[in-house]
Amino acid sequence: MTVETIGITGTGYYLPERVLTNFDLEKMVDTSDQWILERTGIRQRRLAAPGETASSMAEAASRPALAAAGVDPEQLDLIILGTFTADQPLPAAACLLQARLGNHTAACFDISAACCGFIYALELGEKLMLGGRYRNALIVASEVLSCVTDWQDRNTCVLFGDGAGAVVLSKGAGGHRILDTYIGADGEYASLLKVEAGGSAVPITREVLDRREQYVRMEGNKVFKLAVSSMARSARRVLKQAGGTAGEVTWLLPHQANLRIMKAVAKSLKIPEERVYINVDRYGNMSGATVPVGLAEMDHNGVLKPGDLVLMVAFGGGLTWSASLVRW
Ligand code: ACO
Repeated sequence: MTVETIGITGTGYYLPERVLTNFDLEKMVDTSDQWILERTGIRQRRLAAPGETASSMAEAASRPALAAAGVDPEQLDLIILGTFTADQPLPAAACLLQARLGNHTAACFDISAACCGFIYALELGEKLMLGGRYRNALIVASEVLSCVTDWQDRNTCVLFGDGAGAVVLSKGAGGHRILDTYIGADGEYASLLKVEAGGSAVPITREVLDRREQYVRMEGNKVFKLAVSSMARSARRVLKQAGGTAGEVTWLLPHQANLRIMKAVAKSLKIPEERVYINVDRYGNMSGATVPVGLAEMDHNGVLKPGDLVLMVAFGGGLTWSASLVRW
């Protein structure tokens, strides 16, 4: 019996046109370009235009991924979208993406794993495909963080940006192979990073909006420490699962939340900084979209060479953590 392999056959990304620089933010809250750059490594971020949504940005990222894979949208039998800024609570943004692409049969669902949305979706997609029923899957992460950002809160508004990234997974030869993936979470830390309102616990009311509970709140300092330890642990775990070592990694592609977090993770893994892919300076933290945008950017710019070992690692609200190893 031949074991069919699952591989990444196409990548794509989309970034909205509007650029918001640190200097723009200086005019909005009590902050400075110097503080933002020193503490986070971010210089600018992109913001969705009015009318742009998680599904519209997902479509813009998915089209080039499908074209690169040579897969028509009708051939997709699975669409998984990682997002916590879906177009609306119901239906899933994955269904809205499906309609935009003109597919009428694929299984579609969103997953909520914050910054781990893409790697969680990748793991689910790959394992469902290994189950035998699905041949072509679209795995996307798309976030319009600007709509859950409190533009009066300097602790958070300097961090986030909007964007979307996508990959096509196909069964059979020719794709870049996913060697192994590891995902996990610990809900004990749920309160460290949250959007309090808009669900069944705190439905939206006028009072809730006045208290600005519809926006992301974060205990940045505590999240910072947990981010470093959980990303390093996840990376080691997936390397062990796959029988590899950090020394063999060609590219570490970490979730782009903060340059200092990425450097600390690389140091812990003893991966030299020149092998860490970084775009947080240009896009900020796009939550689940940072990893697929980074992967697609590396792919489209010719950074990735055949045989490269790519270690993707992320953490996020939940707290969730995840890592995936791909042979390019
Ligand atoms: N400009 C100027 N000063 C600021 C700003 C700002 N934008 N934001 C905070 N400060 C001040 C604080 O008020 C504080 O002042 P104080 O000492 O007088 O109280 C001081 O700067 C230091 O604040 P800290 O929070 O301790 O700064 P820190 O070095 O931890 O950096 C940051 C903050 C950048 C948020 C960092 O903690 C971080 O990156 N945390 C992790 C973020 C993250 O990765 N989140 C998870 C992913 S997001 C998701 O899942 C959607």
